[in-house]
Amino acid sequence: MGRKRFVANSDITFANKVAVITGAAQGMGAAYARLLAAAGAAVVVSDIQLEKAQAVAAAIIEAGGKAIATRTDVSSPADCQACAEAAIKAFGGIDLLVNNAGLLTAAMEPPLHKIDIERYLKITAVMTHGALYMTQACVPSMSSRGGGAIVNTSSIGAWQPQGVYSLTKLGVNGLTGILAKELLPMNIRVNAVAPGPVDTEGLRGIMSLEQLKAYALASGKPTDEVAGPEDIAKVGVFLLSDDARFISGQVVAVDQATLYRI
Ligand SMILES: NC(=O)c1ccc[n+]([C@@H]2O[C@H](COP(=O)([O-])OP(=O)(O)OC[C@H]3O[C@@H](n4cnc5c(N)ncnc54)[C@H](O)[C@@H]3O)[C@@H](O)[C@H]2O)c1
Repeated sequence: MGRKRFVANSDITFANKVAVITGAAQGMGAAYARLLAAAGAAVVVSDIQLEKAQAVAAAIIEAGGKAIATRTDVSSPADCQACAEAAIKAFGGIDLLVNNAGLLTAAMEPPLHKIDIERYLKITAVMTHGALYMTQACVPSMSSRGGGAIVNTSSIGAWQPQGVYSLTKLGVNGLTGILAKELLPMNIRVNAVAPGPVDTEGLRGIMSLEQLKAYALASGKPTDEVAGPEDIAKVGVFLLSDDARFISGQVVAVDQATLYRI
């Protein structure tokens, strides 16, 4: 009998897998698309900004990967359904989903007791309900292919009250835990990544690098080094991989000890 070969950590590959990533035209979503494609997945670069999503997909194809772009507003259930259909038409099905689309400007809204209700409804529709709409659109295909994995982008802001932004991310954490229970019997795992401040196009639209470093320190980070999009997406990619097959329902903070949680 041949000796069993033990491997400490397998190289993560997603050959023959199909991944849908929302908010993938820039920032963390684009990092997920590039990393997943480099690991062999066919990726659906979905975003409300079509031209930028097409540019991300074109760069992936140029580098030898498989990608399409879709114009998808995650706050529209019909758009989410159309995105899933486009993925199935292009690549035959869906195995992986990253619910990442978000509005960083939501952190600058007035406090909850004063926020304009139209803005409140719009922001929660994108940042919380959008993750559910896209999950509903993708789960039938994942299930028919024997299972899959979902990663939601939360934030440490869920635990540092900041008006509607925090509320939407608490909603994402709730979705993560409840959907993890509902979907494990279909062999679909659901986790979330909760980053601290990350240097993305979206955040740079609000603050300079110096302000971002100061913000990281003010959030409780022991040093002022700010994460890049790949620092976060690599953790999400691990959670999507079979190496994480026993992890589901978790919200993993990726914040270099910004929050103290024991
Ligand atoms: N940057 C940070 O410091 C930070 C920290 C914690 C969590 N997050 C979360 O990470 C996620 C990505 O943020 P980022 O920093 O990469 O921001 P970003 O602004 O660079 O990227 C967000 C993307 O989402 C897209 N988007 C916005 N509304 C959409 C909609 N209705 N439908 C589809 N796409 C839409 C945007 O067009 C953009 O491409 C967000 O959910 C954000 O809340 C960011």
